[in-house]
Amino acid sequence: MRVVILGSGRGSNAEAILQAEKAGRLGQARVVALFSDRADAGMLALGPRFGVPAHFIDPAPFKTKLDGEGEARAIAAISAVHPDLIVLAGFMRVLKPGFLNAFAGKVINLHPSLLPSFPGLDGIGQAFRRGVKITGCTVHFVTPEVDGGPILDQAAVRIEPHDTLESLATKIHAAEHELLPATVARLSGGRNPGA
Ligand code: GAR
Repeated sequence: MRVVILGSGRGSNAEAILQAEKAGRLGQARVVALFSDRADAGMLALGPRFGVPAHFIDPAPFKTKLDGEGEARAIAAISAVHPDLIVLAGFMRVLKPGFLNAFAGKVINLHPSLLPSFPGLDGIGQAFRRGVKITGCTVHFVTPEVDGGPILDQAAVRIEPHDTLESLATKIHAAEHELLPATVARLSGGRNPGA
């Protein structure tokens, strides 16, 4: 299974996937390319470290979504590496139907809350401020409804009385680094990751 990872930030989840592959824990999945909509994304530095091609895709003209010319550039660049699965690991733009139809049923996303609670931006902060006692992370298929697609798997994280926003974020990231590679591995085996 040929896997492409898209991200906008530091890339700790992309790194967790690459480490899992290196350790033989990614099933039949192989990461074939990394792409970012930010030229300065830490994620792109993982390419040389792990021997995987890493590319910036110019997302212009929009600021928060991938549409128009930016979308066309992304579709062309990603199609060229023939992905079976596209993993959004901290990709902070909304994908529109043009992109999703080009890769129908192949795009999954990681979100830092237990969806359907706290979709959208800052899922960790939303849960912390609301005062819930259990939050976590979710991997789901991407549909045009933001953070609304079918759920593949989730991990729960307890918010303890002494937790701060920072300590909660650390716990959620640790849970993400287990959940996302495990979900990719299970998808590569053709098994239902929720089973
Ligand atoms: C992760 O916590 C991921 O859940 C979140 O961005 C972070 C990326 O971290 N994604 C979203 O909020 C998507 N709406 P990373 O760049 O270190 O992998």
